[in-house]
Amino acid sequence: MSDNGWKASAKAWIKDMGEAGDYGRRYVLDAPMVERLRRLKPGKALDVGCGEGRFCRILRAEGFDPVGLDPTAELLEAARAKDTGGSYVEGRAEVLDFADASFDLVVSCLSLIDIERADQAIAEMARVLKPGGTLLVANLTGFSSARANDGWQTTLFGRKTFFAIDHYLEPRASWQSWRGINIINWHRPLKDYMQWFLSAGLVLTHFDEPAPTGGPPERADRYRRAPWYVILEWRKS
Ligand SMILES: C[S@@+](CC[C@H](N)C(=O)[O-])C[C@H]1O[C@@H](n2cnc3c(N)ncnc32)[C@H](O)[C@@H]1O
Repeated sequence: MSDNGWKASAKAWIKDMGEAGDYGRRYVLDAPMVERLRRLKPGKALDVGCGEGRFCRILRAEGFDPVGLDPTAELLEAARAKDTGGSYVEGRAEVLDFADASFDLVVSCLSLIDIERADQAIAEMARVLKPGGTLLVANLTGFSSARANDGWQTTLFGRKTFFAIDHYLEPRASWQSWRGINIINWHRPLKDYMQWFLSAGLVLTHFDEPAPTGGPPERADRYRRAPWYVILEWRKS
């Protein structure tokens, strides 16, 4: 497995999340993700790539009994400090150390783009789900991770801005840096993810590309103009 930058970026990531989360979580993802949770019967949940534990805390507040899993010890330490009664384990999504059919709900909140072998991770998430269980995924859409030169371009003489993507069908890894965070993201076209979910025998029960609901207007405008997140909910039959 490659060094994906998470160890060195942990401190900056924890600071960036704060309690409220970054713009995308606070104003775009939280509300539709919680809305999906509220349709489920609370039970045992696994949060794969839990980071500093923000979504585990949301799961707990919604009545679930979550286990957070992440390979970055520094992030797990922060997760445990913020949720002293919580359960956080070190591990990788590609090989989950849990028995088959252990969880009612598996969540991946913006972690699939950070996982080197997302194909293996998806198969593992499906394996540890109970029959009838739910896999809830929020991910950066492939239309965003294929952005060219940071996406936003300006035409000659600055008349127009637009968002550019390139080499969409080519999976690749690239270093991404913002606010002291420097990590690898894995671009894959949507069809790769969809084929991995389908070959794990999962059935799609919900699909969304959520729109921003607030925050600074110019920021919200960028999230409306360009592709950003996708929410997928799958059921194990
Ligand atoms: C963008 S953060 C998301 C954290 C959290 N889910 C949230 O939404 O705040 C991605 C997380 O994926 C974790 N990660 C990286 N490689 C992983 C792997 N192979 N298996 C599981 N998690 C991984 C990182 O350590 C990091 O905590």
